[in-house]
Amino acid sequence: PESDTLQDFCIADLKATVLVNGFPCKPATKVSSHDFFFDGLTKKGNTSKTLGVGVIAGNVLTFPALNTLGLSMNLVDFAPGGLNQPHSHPRATESGVVIKGKLLVGFVTSGHVYYSKVLRKGGMFVIPQGLVHFQKNVGKGNAQLITAFNSQLPGSVVVAPTLFGSKSKPTLPDDVLTASFQVDQTVIDEIKSKFLGA
Ligand code: GLV
Ligand code: MN
Repeated sequence: PESDTLQDFCIADLKATVLVNGFPCKPATKVSSHDFFFDGLTKKGNTSKTLGVGVIAGNVLTFPALNTLGLSMNLVDFAPGGLNQPHSHPRATESGVVIKGKLLVGFVTSGHVYYSKVLRKGGMFVIPQGLVHFQKNVGKGNAQLITAFNSQLPGSVVVAPTLFGSKSKPTLPDDVLTASFQVDQTVIDEIKSKFLGA
């Protein structure tokens, strides 16, 4: 969460070359009504990918008026069976409302306790800051969710690809993974091959 603001607004200048903590403001003389409205969430997330989930982000990068204001929202669309896979937001608590369909929402605490519930239209949830969580469409049709965050840019650490699909060379060492997951190298090779296309 961001701290109190020092001015009414600060429309992000996304092209700025010097970034401190967030973005500098676009000159007030260049600000118009257009800046304060965003129609990105009127679209539908692309659910044709492997996990059947499509996220449209309304954060400072897509909606620069959120700069310094400490909040953002997403639209999440699910095909039948679609999964928004386990991830966490390092900089925000998340709350959400189911708009359509039936979703299993779950998270795990730092003490490894799992909490979950199946929610229908209008059902709301909260994911405390930083905890690993997911949503899965357990209904027959499509499902849709609006989420909100107390950060202009909550960040998303997606567990599986973070551990098994690191792209820099060298990647996260295999012996770190075999020890952590207590499995043989062959298991790590198989999982890594899905993420790295090896
Ligand atoms: C859902 O978990 C989201 O991050 O939008
Ligand atoms: Mn989330």
